Amino acid sequence: MQHLIETQQFTREALKELFNVATSLEGKRGQSLKGKILASLFYEPSTRTRLSFESAMLRLGGEVITMENGKESSSQSKGETLEDSIKVVNHYADLIVMRHAEVGSAARAAAVSNVPIINAGDGNMGQHPTQALLDLYTIQRELKREDNIHIAIVGNLKYYRSPRSLAYLLSKYKDIKVTFISSPELRMEEDVKTHLKENNVPFTETEDMITGIRDADVVYQTRIAKEWIKNDEEYEKQRGRYIITRAVADSMKKGAIIIHPLPRVGEIEEAVDASPHAVYFKQIGYGLIVRMALLKTILGGEKKLFRAHKKK
Ligand code: CP
Repeated sequence: MQHLIETQQFTREALKELFNVATSLEGKRGQSLKGKILASLFYEPSTRTRLSFESAMLRLGGEVITMENGKESSSQSKGETLEDSIKVVNHYADLIVMRHAEVGSAARAAAVSNVPIINAGDGNMGQHPTQALLDLYTIQRELKREDNIHIAIVGNLKYYRSPRSLAYLLSKYKDIKVTFISSPELRMEEDVKTHLKENNVPFTETEDMITGIRDADVVYQTRIAKEWIKNDEEYEKQRGRYIITRAVADSMKKGAIIIHPLPRVGEIEEAVDASPHAVYFKQIGYGLIVRMALLKTILGGEKKLFRAHKKK
């Protein structure tokens, strides 16, 4: 049984294998997961992650039970512990996709679960491994290479789990360069920067977006998340600081791409959508096939594709 908790579980070879499966599933529907049930437990809001996992399961012939808005609608609101909820859902489903507000919640769920847990986001400074997998798939597929990539990650680097997860994946490749672009208050945390240093991935930090994206192959824009920056004054100060306008997009080098986990709330102007650099909606389609590949591998696979997560 495989739990997917963090991106450190993947090797470069495993990523290649997973992405090959994803590509092979494009436009396909089948019955390989017939008889299997996915439970989506979402204690935080989601559009893409929950619906794409559910769509992926249905496209593979499986079935879905779902709990949205779990903070209010589940028995957590009556005081049930996460561990008890997981032990209960174990009787209903063959796999659980879970999003929760607490860092470490996915690992806690995995510790008591008899069915695989997929972390669909744990806390603002935790991880969102499946988002990072689809981000990496998008990058490699659009750029048509795995190595020699300069990525500029822009905006909310502190309270955003997806770029944290992506950084661990990028360190598997050669000649990767990272430019972190943010205000001093929203800089990337030290644990990720330490990992990049230990893996010889050069990175720089700057507040200047225009200079920072000039040579980038990938511009990874992020949202200033109101739900994670609890202080209204701080939120107002940060929002609107880094906006990709059409003029900014036009200043990017030929062949460079703009990606975003979405939702966006103004940090990429709609006028950018028609730019040849914009791939953030295409990225959604890639997300579906990467999640189909994950479900097929975890539930239907004969062999383990990724390592067990390290218990902390
Ligand atoms: N990117 C992402 O996780 O989107 P949702 O919050 O809509 O799932």
